[in-house]
Amino acid sequence: MISINPTAAFMVDGDIATIMLDSPPVNALSAEVRAGLKRGVELASDVQGVKAVVLICAGRTFIAGADISEFGKPPTAPLLPSVLDAIENLGKPVIAAVHGSALGGGFEVALAAHYRIAAPSAKFGLPEIKLGLIPGAGGTQRLPRLIGAQKALELILSGDPVGAPEAKEWGILDELAEEGSLHESAKAFARKLIDRGAPPRRLRDVSEKIDAARGKPEIFETIRKAYARKFRGFEAWERAIASVKNAVDLPFDEGIAREREMFESLKAGNQSKAQRYVFFSERQAAKIPDIGGAEPGRSIGSVGVIGAGTMGGGIAMNFLNAGIPVTIVDASSDALGRGLQTIRRNYENSARKGRLTFADVEARMSRLTAALDYSAFSDQDLIVEAAFEDMALKKDIFARLDVIAKPGAILATNTSYLDVDQIAAATKRPEDVVGLHFFSPANVMRLLEIVRAAKTSKTVVATAMQLALRIGKIGVVVGVCHGFVGNRMLAARQREAMKLIVEGAMPWDVDRVLVDFGFPMGPFAMSDLAGLDIGWSRSTSTRSTIREILCEEGRRGQKTGAGYYDYDEARNARPSMFVEEVVREFSKNKGVAPRAISDEEILERCIFPMINEGAKILDEGKALRASDIDVVWINGYGWPVYRGGPMFYGASLGLENVVVRLETFQAVLGDDFKPSPLLARMARQGTSW
Ligand code: 3HC
Repeated sequence: MISINPTAAFMVDGDIATIMLDSPPVNALSAEVRAGLKRGVELASDVQGVKAVVLICAGRTFIAGADISEFGKPPTAPLLPSVLDAIENLGKPVIAAVHGSALGGGFEVALAAHYRIAAPSAKFGLPEIKLGLIPGAGGTQRLPRLIGAQKALELILSGDPVGAPEAKEWGILDELAEEGSLHESAKAFARKLIDRGAPPRRLRDVSEKIDAARGKPEIFETIRKAYARKFRGFEAWERAIASVKNAVDLPFDEGIAREREMFESLKAGNQSKAQRYVFFSERQAAKIPDIGGAEPGRSIGSVGVIGAGTMGGGIAMNFLNAGIPVTIVDASSDALGRGLQTIRRNYENSARKGRLTFADVEARMSRLTAALDYSAFSDQDLIVEAAFEDMALKKDIFARLDVIAKPGAILATNTSYLDVDQIAAATKRPEDVVGLHFFSPANVMRLLEIVRAAKTSKTVVATAMQLALRIGKIGVVVGVCHGFVGNRMLAARQREAMKLIVEGAMPWDVDRVLVDFGFPMGPFAMSDLAGLDIGWSRSTSTRSTIREILCEEGRRGQKTGAGYYDYDEARNARPSMFVEEVVREFSKNKGVAPRAISDEEILERCIFPMINEGAKILDEGKALRASDIDVVWINGYGWPVYRGGPMFYGASLGLENVVVRLETFQAVLGDDFKPSPLLARMARQGTSW
């Protein structure tokens, strides 16, 4: 065995050579790995008697892609395309042997090889689109030659991996290996090739599959239309389509040169920078400085949920999906019945769309038990309360749970605003109490705010983080404050949105500006969806806000066919003349003369106070880092990922510029805009979060 460098080794067994890469954790293609790989190929070429080459990785996975952490730095030779050319042009067959994941540049390495074999559990994908990129080392040129333009584009635009058995069906793989004996299987495959005298098979020379798409621009137009909505605001996807079209229309060398140009220009652009930042931020969020990865956590084998409403049902589904039995308790048998029906209906809808089998539906429902009484919670490992937002009620629930739950059970509240310390104080075991704040719809949204109260134990926080991972959520640890991270910042935006309409903008103006910025919907459309009457009651309503007036007029949102907007039967929104009159009248009564408000002002007034609030949250230690705040906003509130989150956005504008604008607004509109001490200090010092 020859050790080429710390990440690559070369060995020969008879007439078969193996290049083995070993660069933990995921064999990303750093400069050292690229150099090792290139040297391995040179050795394979030079060493006499070698007739075929196996390219394989040590550790938990094949190559998971380019080393994303190198993207902001000046490139170091050898560059990936030249390494791939060396592989493809080697005069001896190269077999990529894949286990774990072959992603991005890793998949492209496998495509530059002449043959591919994989463990049945392996996965193949081109996730570059999720980083605001297109594949940059031949993925858009070689993959269409292997599986056709349409299938290649599906993989590239979804960014999701495909499993080895399916990859075999599609023609990506030549053979499936036996699980656990990949190297032996790859060598056996190499032997067959040698015995057959099989030549290197270069994908650049294969054209049958792309010939089929030539002269059919409609293929690309159809795909463009299908993805336009999903990718509104994103830059990379249309380039991905253009590049695959180039594979069909242009010679290989020209297509690959254009692919590289597009990749480089996207890599240098703001969207990809933001999306790469989000990639690392999401992984960073899992790291809690005073806990570390070693904290064991408790085992969670059963979960209780209090409340069978929309939230409780959605929360229960997460655990059922992960194979964890759930007992759901509600005081009313009607509510329980409705809740169970809704869960079943949701699952059946997924099954009808092909996302689950009907057997899966039954398996999940069989894990669900309903009960009317808390005594059903005596043996649960975790109990999540999802009752109304009422402190007295929550305290009462937790005092009762304290009596019933077994020692060591975790008692969690799904409160979105309330003081978890106070809730914990209703028990004699505050160290076992934590906030688990799910976002609606709770079975869909990826975010889980894990509210660490003053006395929550480290084990409980560690368990909550592990559980988040197990149910497919991104857990972000936050501190106790009104609304925690997400809703506290949302309140700042809502406040400004409401003020803007009193000053002269219309709800649809504000919504349009925020949708153009990249949010899936604006604050008023969001209120209509959630219901204007959340927290409203007729008995206490005094027509003192626009919302109260609309509620009193029966305009309580989409569910009543009217809110800030009018809705038709298909729930399409239209600006409402009635609301316009209500708003104008309201302003008049307040003595405010409506003025024309620019889109720029709307945007700054909605977004900059959020950044300011984020700075306060950071200063108070309610979030561990600015990037955690961004992870919250991207995964819980639809902040456009290509803008990196509010804190990243503020920093990219320059904190000093944000402060200048806040101070300008403060001078006219008051202290809602007063820059937080942290923000002001950073702006003055020219530093950032
Ligand atoms: N570059 C640099 N670091 C990477 C990386 C990459 N491509 N992929 C993963 N890492 C790091 C992570 O940041 C993490 O570091 P940390 O421990 O310090 O936080 C560590 O590797 C482990 O990663 P995960 O926590 O994500 O481990 P999982 O086991 O959950 O997932 C994975 C493994 C599926 C490989 C996942 O890490 C992943 O999806 N990675 C990114 C894959 C990707 O996007 N590849 C395309 C890159 S762009 C490209 O290749 C361009 C080309 O076309 C030229």
